[in-house]
Amino acid sequence: MALDVATIKKDFPIFERVVNGHRLVYLDSASSSQKPRAVLDAMDHLYETSYANTHRGVYVLGQESTALYEGARERVARFINAPSSREVLFAKNVTEAINLVAYSWGRANLSEGDAVLLTEMEHHANLVPWLVLREERGVELRFLPVGDDYQLDLSDLDRLIDGVKLVGVVGISNVLGTLNPLRQLADAAHAAGAVFLVDGAQYTPHIATDVAELGCDFYGFTGHKMLGPTGIGVLWGREELLDAMPAFLTGGEMIRDVRLDGWTPNELPWKFEAGTQPIAEAVGLAAAIDYLEAVGMEAIREHEVSLTAYALRALTERHGDKLTIFGPSEPAARGGVLSFAYDGVHPHDVSQVLDEAGVCVRAGHHCAKPLMRSLGVNASARASLYVYNDADDVTALGDGLAYAADFFAF
Ligand SMILES: Cc1ncc(COP(=O)(O)O)c(C=O)c1O
Repeated sequence: MALDVATIKKDFPIFERVVNGHRLVYLDSASSSQKPRAVLDAMDHLYETSYANTHRGVYVLGQESTALYEGARERVARFINAPSSREVLFAKNVTEAINLVAYSWGRANLSEGDAVLLTEMEHHANLVPWLVLREERGVELRFLPVGDDYQLDLSDLDRLIDGVKLVGVVGISNVLGTLNPLRQLADAAHAAGAVFLVDGAQYTPHIATDVAELGCDFYGFTGHKMLGPTGIGVLWGREELLDAMPAFLTGGEMIRDVRLDGWTPNELPWKFEAGTQPIAEAVGLAAAIDYLEAVGMEAIREHEVSLTAYALRALTERHGDKLTIFGPSEPAARGGVLSFAYDGVHPHDVSQVLDEAGVCVRAGHHCAKPLMRSLGVNASARASLYVYNDADDVTALGDGLAYAADFFAF
């Protein structure tokens, strides 16, 4: 099932680019992925042939746009094995999706003294909305710590989960690459009477997602990290939960009726889609899903596990103790996110020197400041792998690190 990365790369126009005199080595897909021609074409095609606002025009273009937009919803539902497309809500990104849960479900269900269990490895997107609820309502927040080999420490799970109303967990950490035991946590959440929310931003692009099998109640992900455009994310939620939740943003298609003395919300899924929607972006996301499924999600996962194993081995052999990789040592227990510190070189300097060789890696706190503090660093450099990366890209990273080490040697 090995991927033909050379052929895949040809599907992405950006890889024709030369950066600072070098071929482009893109190792920042955890931040945002590149886009295949099929996604760009699908969006162009909509604008060139069928574009109009959705759900409004009775004319042909309006009907075609609506069919494409609602077709994208059906496509997403099949991709994540959602029981119904009524449960698939389009949002701007996963940050907005999780905010929707916190604002709507959270405000309807949490009051002073109620507890929410998160982990210390959450991205700010699944942390700050809950911090806001703590400030506003006195909701108690508890955190599962990070333990041995950068895995969640579940030794105190029974105590921490007792009495909580929601458990919210990142599927794969965007800093550590840790693949969390979602089914186990879902079962524990349900046994405690809590709902289970997953931040799937780093999971869905890389691993076949089945919201039923994972045991989720809410699941969010974001289009731009999975070969799709920016401006589109998804919240999936169980229908009875979404039905019972109050509207989040208001106005536009989320309305059934408006009177001067009040209003009635629309039914699912439109109840949560206020204003003109990201129509072309939804169409682009559906095309990205088609592309990913044509390559095969299992093949993608297999490719990434073996490339990650190679990267861990090759970089460690070459750079030894100078290189600290923050993440699980076992490739099958992680995604292809490699956060690292290089002895004596600031992560931003690493990133800048790598850029001179055409290698794109991100440096910073990766929007997970509490986790960075617990690792004892302000920032790390991060290389992340995807469907269009291969061993040559890992070698280019290793070469760039050797050059950076020489350049900053003191
Ligand atoms: C784990 C995780 N959650 C949430 C996000 C936020 O994604 P977006 O900016 O698309 O909302 C990211 C993006 O970096 C992420 O890695």
